[in-house]
Amino acid sequence: MVIKGSISFPGDKSISHRALILASLCKGESSFSNLSTGMDVFSTKECLMACGINIISEKNKTIVNGGTFNDPNQKLDCGNSGTTMRLLVGLLAGQKVSATFIGDDSLSSRPMNRILSPLAEMGLKLKSKNKRLPITITKSELTGLDYESPIASAQVKSSVLLATLGSNKTTCFTEPVLSRDHTERMLKYIGADISFKNNKTFLEPLSNPLSPFNFNIPGDPSTAAFFAGAASIIPGSNITINRVLINPTRIGFFTILDKMGARIKYLKEKEEVGELIGNINIKQERLNGVRISAKEIPAIIDELPIIAIIATQAKGITKVTGAKELRMKECDRINAISKNLNDMGAKIKELDDGFIIEGPTVLKGAKIETFKDHRIAMAFSIAGLVADGNILLDYPESVKISYPEFFEQLNRVCK
Ligand code: S3P
Repeated sequence: MVIKGSISFPGDKSISHRALILASLCKGESSFSNLSTGMDVFSTKECLMACGINIISEKNKTIVNGGTFNDPNQKLDCGNSGTTMRLLVGLLAGQKVSATFIGDDSLSSRPMNRILSPLAEMGLKLKSKNKRLPITITKSELTGLDYESPIASAQVKSSVLLATLGSNKTTCFTEPVLSRDHTERMLKYIGADISFKNNKTFLEPLSNPLSPFNFNIPGDPSTAAFFAGAASIIPGSNITINRVLINPTRIGFFTILDKMGARIKYLKEKEEVGELIGNINIKQERLNGVRISAKEIPAIIDELPIIAIIATQAKGITKVTGAKELRMKECDRINAISKNLNDMGAKIKELDDGFIIEGPTVLKGAKIETFKDHRIAMAFSIAGLVADGNILLDYPESVKISYPEFFEQLNRVCK
């Protein structure tokens, strides 16, 4: 079996959330094609609609009529989505909306103080259960903030920036390493007063309405990573990924693959709505282990599960450190990776902030505990392709969070 052909992916999840959110602030009609088909972006859409924003979904088109926000007359259910929750709290705080946020068991156990603390400093009145969901925010006058974030998190950064739009003073947000910068790029494109210096972002409150915009959203590189990963470890594979997002804060996975010895080519690059888009070709090659440390983590935070699978097939040691944030995702991903790879017979040592894998190993079939985490389900499906024996996922439906078409598309390119 080989991975062959060319493949296009539904729109990038991070950009899809932001397109809906920022279009809801624009005066007039914005139109998007290739929006993410996952449940997370659906949660954002439903929450915005519950606040009075008009969003129409047609075949492959989503139209948002931005305007004024109302207090929702229901709790805002963010489902499994940290991005929905953290960005909407910031957005609605700035729009002087009172609302209560809830989510599923995974989201309800994730830390929220990372946004509650800076937003409270900006003047937001809020109530929470031990700094976790459910969270209630009450209409408040906000001021800008000079904030040094202890973590490189685009969700925290975006939450503070969205709140700033409805505040009365400039915000300066500093992060230790630049995290994904889609909010900033999109804000600049639609006319916000935003500027940058090193890892600092300066944003002014809105004084003029933002301009509605249209965007054919590029494919999600974090989803593409599972297919690129499969192609990089299955002998004879050759795959081209069409029209995918190649924003420098998001292609860390391909940089790591390249360091491991993979054959990667970037083709047909262009810029749209402030984002870089291109095609990527990957051919299988013998890979070597790699060291990955803290400063590289933000650009590969969502790809570490598939990197772990690739590392089991590479020659030598792969050591990942500085990745404690991985324990705060949809599940504790360091634990999920270590447990399942151990069960598959890999040589893996769990670290507090990462893991060490020694390869190559012939993986064995096993029952995989997904922890209902989409990226664990997809990563171990790829492990199953190179394993001697079958894998059985306890909850394959979890792929719907970001890529409902995962199994269908994987079958299509497995030849
Ligand atoms: C995201 C940011 C990242 C990432 C998540 C999506 C975003 O989280 O893991 O899948 O769209 O802003 P953090 O900002 O918490 O690192």
